[in-house]
Amino acid sequence: MGGRSFTVEPLPASFGARVSGVRLASLSDTDLAQVREAWFEFGLLIFPDQGLNRDEQVALARRFGPLVFDLLEISNTWPDGSVRPADDAVVRAFETNKYWHQDNTYQPVQALGAVFSALTVPPQGGETAFADLAAAWDALAPAEQRRLEGLTALHSVRLNPQNARKGEAGPEARLTDLQGGTAARRRPLLKIHPVTGRKCLAVGRHAYALEGWPQDSARALLDQLTEQACQPPRVWAHRWTAGDAVLWDNIRLAHRALPWDMSQPRVMWQSRIAGDPATEGSEAVDAELAG
Ligand SMILES: [Fe+2]
Repeated sequence: MGGRSFTVEPLPASFGARVSGVRLASLSDTDLAQVREAWFEFGLLIFPDQGLNRDEQVALARRFGPLVFDLLEISNTWPDGSVRPADDAVVRAFETNKYWHQDNTYQPVQALGAVFSALTVPPQGGETAFADLAAAWDALAPAEQRRLEGLTALHSVRLNPQNARKGEAGPEARLTDLQGGTAARRRPLLKIHPVTGRKCLAVGRHAYALEGWPQDSARALLDQLTEQACQPPRVWAHRWTAGDAVLWDNIRLAHRALPWDMSQPRVMWQSRIAGDPATEGSEAVDAELAG
């Protein structure tokens, strides 16, 4: 397969690798192709010590495809760097990021992935955890796989009673409302990965109902599947160091932010890579508030 010019050390999990010996801000076309290949082979690539600036990060992300957005700062600080109070709307909006989810599944097109980098990290906590939903599918019993193959979930932030109860939605959700993406989206529980062809279990926080199912049983099954899926060896929590950059596969992996002492600043930049509407698109459905 033509040797790589950089070093890839697999993580002790069913996915993920740490990559060294490569400078993301100045990747050759050959290295870019090899990074892209490793991205889908491992699902998560961690690049320590990159220190990308805004322009470098956006330029890098664009080399992987069209973007959902160039660069979103995910931060609990004011522009002057001081920390926002705990009851600040932006801080409370981090609430939904604490749960396992995949980005943009409640929108017309699920994201393909993201470049995510750390500028300021708290001394403890604030890890980003990832879970391997391809390995989760493979771990299901064949009879369970056959049962799930026929099921379709509805995804929404606005209609999800778990969000509505709290009256809260993450920064992404607020963006969604601005973009008018308020219908529920149909997504089968079995997602075929558009690049690798692997079967992935499409669950997580944004799936709030199953078509044709009573809400209580749907909620119970969705919670059980997510809980079962996101267990070792299918999980990895990345402990950030300022200057790290990661590249993740948002179809194979779910992710969530682990808590930290919110009096400590945490500043991250995300550049989100768009999915292909032909494979990551979804149908809108007129759905009522469930629950
Ligand atoms: Fe997310």
